[in-house]
Amino acid sequence: MTEMTPVPQAATDATPVKTPALPDAQTVTAVKHWTDRLFSFRVTRPKTLRFRSGEFVMIGLLGDNGKPLLRAYSIASPAWDDELEFYSIKVQDGPLTSKLQHIQPGDEIILRPKPVGTLVHDALIPGKRIWFFATGTGFAPFASLLREPATYENYDEVVVTHTCRDVAELEYGRQLIENLRQDEMMMELLGAENLNKIRYYPTTTREQSPKMGRITNLLKDGTVFADLGIPPINAETDRAMVCGSLGFNIDLKEVLEGFGLREGANSDPKEYVVEKAFVG
Ligand SMILES: Cc1cc2nc3c(=O)[nH]c(=O)nc-3n(C[C@H](O)[C@H](O)[C@H](O)COP(=O)(O)OP(=O)(O)OC[C@H]3O[C@@H](n4cnc5c(N)ncnc54)[C@H](O)[C@@H]3O)c2cc1C
Ligand SMILES: NC(=O)c1ccc[n+]([C@@H]2O[C@H](COP(=O)([O-])OP(=O)(O)OC[C@H]3O[C@@H](n4cnc5c(N)ncnc54)[C@H](OP(=O)(O)O)[C@@H]3O)[C@@H](O)[C@H]2O)c1
Repeated sequence: MTEMTPVPQAATDATPVKTPALPDAQTVTAVKHWTDRLFSFRVTRPKTLRFRSGEFVMIGLLGDNGKPLLRAYSIASPAWDDELEFYSIKVQDGPLTSKLQHIQPGDEIILRPKPVGTLVHDALIPGKRIWFFATGTGFAPFASLLREPATYENYDEVVVTHTCRDVAELEYGRQLIENLRQDEMMMELLGAENLNKIRYYPTTTREQSPKMGRITNLLKDGTVFADLGIPPINAETDRAMVCGSLGFNIDLKEVLEGFGLREGANSDPKEYVVEKAFVG
């Protein structure tokens, strides 16, 4: 499991507002800053909250007007975890994250316990190989699904692609996968043989790294399949979940449909599902 250490709070007048009077308040237990644009944190879990790995909830803080300022966030922890983990962007002038980035252990956030989303196993028909395609913070729902036993029960192979501009932006995902393979509790829960099913394929687009390029292009020209030594995506065997910017989701949908996959939903499971990592 990703280890997080408390960090000193930066000097700011945008201190998170305590929300003890709110019924949906949860307490921050850990915070880790990955880059100047990315951080992750853990909070207490409401006892009554049930969710499916891959879903998202609304979280936030009290705004300056005293009203809750909420945004959609994928739950990055698996459904069995005692706490909830989130992986977040820091938008410097963003109404929520300009404040949220300063939370510290002991602070409270608001969490509406109504999970929803399409990046769930129930929205896919059975297959042999599952692909998780993420850009940026779109890795968050897959951080949950990679720690979900059903992922390994349902599939023989799990291919995780993560594309970011810079190498540092890959680190949360890279460490999470590395720790899965080293953490005894995770090995016991998920099975060492199951963790060998993971094929991790990180790429960068604006900083030199071992694999450069947009995943859409690397799929279209066959590079991904050649690099991993696997056959191309096939509608009979392959299932996919996609989480990135709107432009990424649109372009990747076209690629997947080119391989013959059809978009599914909770009410109508098919071969692939998509969720936006952010709006805008
Ligand atoms: C279904 C869903 C799930 C989401 N899950 C997450 C998550 O797990 N982690 C997360 O950090 N955000 C997630 N978001 C985005 C999140 O809801 C907020 O937009 C984000 O926290 C910024 O809030 P803000 O109020 O500071 O700025 P906003 O006013 O919400 O956004 C300002 C601008 O910042 C950019 N932006 C916003 N979010 C991101 C992002 N994640 N990556 C890159 N650019 C961004 C966009 O250009 C946006 O127009 C999700 C959004 C949706 C719709
Ligand atoms: N990341 C940063 O360092 C940074 C810094 C300041 C501000 N911002 C702003 O923050 C917002 C989000 O940035 P982000 O980097 O988190 O997300 P992003 O712009 O969606 O890019 C994330 C990764 O996805 C790739 N990508 C984007 N669109 C794609 C598509 N249609 N098909 C395939 N791959 C695609 C990008 O490749 P490309 O590089 O080829 O686009 C990049 O590697 C943007 O508005 C950006 O201007 C980002």
